[in-house]
Amino acid sequence: MDYSRKIAERLWNQADKGELESHREETFIDDIIQKSHLEKELLSHLDGIKTVFDGGAGCGRFSILLAKYGCEVTHFDISQPMIDKAKELAAKEGVLDKITFVKGALEDLGAFADHSYDMVISFDAPVSYTHPNQEKVIGELVRICRKRIMLSVSSRLGYLPYLANPIQRNQFILDENCGDPYVEWCVANREKAIEAFYFKKDTVMKLWNEGLTGGEEEIAAYEKGETPWCITYTFMPDELEDILTRCGVKKIKLAGPGAYVRTIPRELLVKIMKDDGQRRDFLEFCHQYDSNPYVCGMGKDNLFAYGEL
Ligand SMILES: C[S@@+](CC[C@H](N)C(=O)[O-])C[C@H]1O[C@@H](n2cnc3c(N)ncnc32)[C@H](O)[C@@H]1O
Repeated sequence: MDYSRKIAERLWNQADKGELESHREETFIDDIIQKSHLEKELLSHLDGIKTVFDGGAGCGRFSILLAKYGCEVTHFDISQPMIDKAKELAAKEGVLDKITFVKGALEDLGAFADHSYDMVISFDAPVSYTHPNQEKVIGELVRICRKRIMLSVSSRLGYLPYLANPIQRNQFILDENCGDPYVEWCVANREKAIEAFYFKKDTVMKLWNEGLTGGEEEIAAYEKGETPWCITYTFMPDELEDILTRCGVKKIKLAGPGAYVRTIPRELLVKIMKDDGQRRDFLEFCHQYDSNPYVCGMGKDNLFAYGEL
């Protein structure tokens, strides 16, 4: 079995992962923008959609939403703790009977028949964790899809700025005193991160050329029994478009959720997000701006693709 899959499985199988993930967009503004973008795309493309396959569905952010809109959803994920959390949340929302939970790896979709779902989605980078099988996985997701496919994968153009900005997450903290341990860590380590920072051109060029974050160090850590972050394949926009085109996907639209918000200082973002009217208008405008093909890829760390079969 490839290391990517083994490492992803160990990371996402951590007992508290489902609980942590289910609170993610309460604390970081860029996560709020990304979720809002994906929700807007989903809800504006539901006509004629009865069945959905959600690959790497996590704790159910989108599978539960779609079930609430009347879809029959297959919630597919490699991690049992994530599935357990999703079941708990689906029960709370009263949609348990609309969702079939399946534990499995995206690298192995052979059990699903061709064209068996009206819509196939895979959001927030599950495909990127399947290196070196990412192209095959996209092909399989397209194969089981009948009408519409939506993916969000790790974006190379979106990820590269992180390498020159170790404090970029601080820009997006909604409330520094919210008690979230990761927020506390970001705040406490800000000065240290600036002091230790050195622009490493080799590292940036390696990501630019190869698209991979993680590798030998993660494999060594895994072998020692540790739990490193996933080995992640980041896509260039034109590369993702070419793969989807080769798989027979038509009417492809790409977007870079998070491009607009990246340009705004934290003080102003917090002001916008804490006022209901401004927040609604801002989220709508972010969706419009981030959907422009000329900024696509410059968003947060995800690149979004929509296509039809
Ligand atoms: C960042 S979470 C995204 C969850 C969900 N799509 C969302 O947007 O809220 C990534 C998910 O992908 C799952 N995953 C990672 N590698 C996978 C693989 N090879 N096959 C299936 N699921 C995988 C993880 O268990 C995790 O739940």
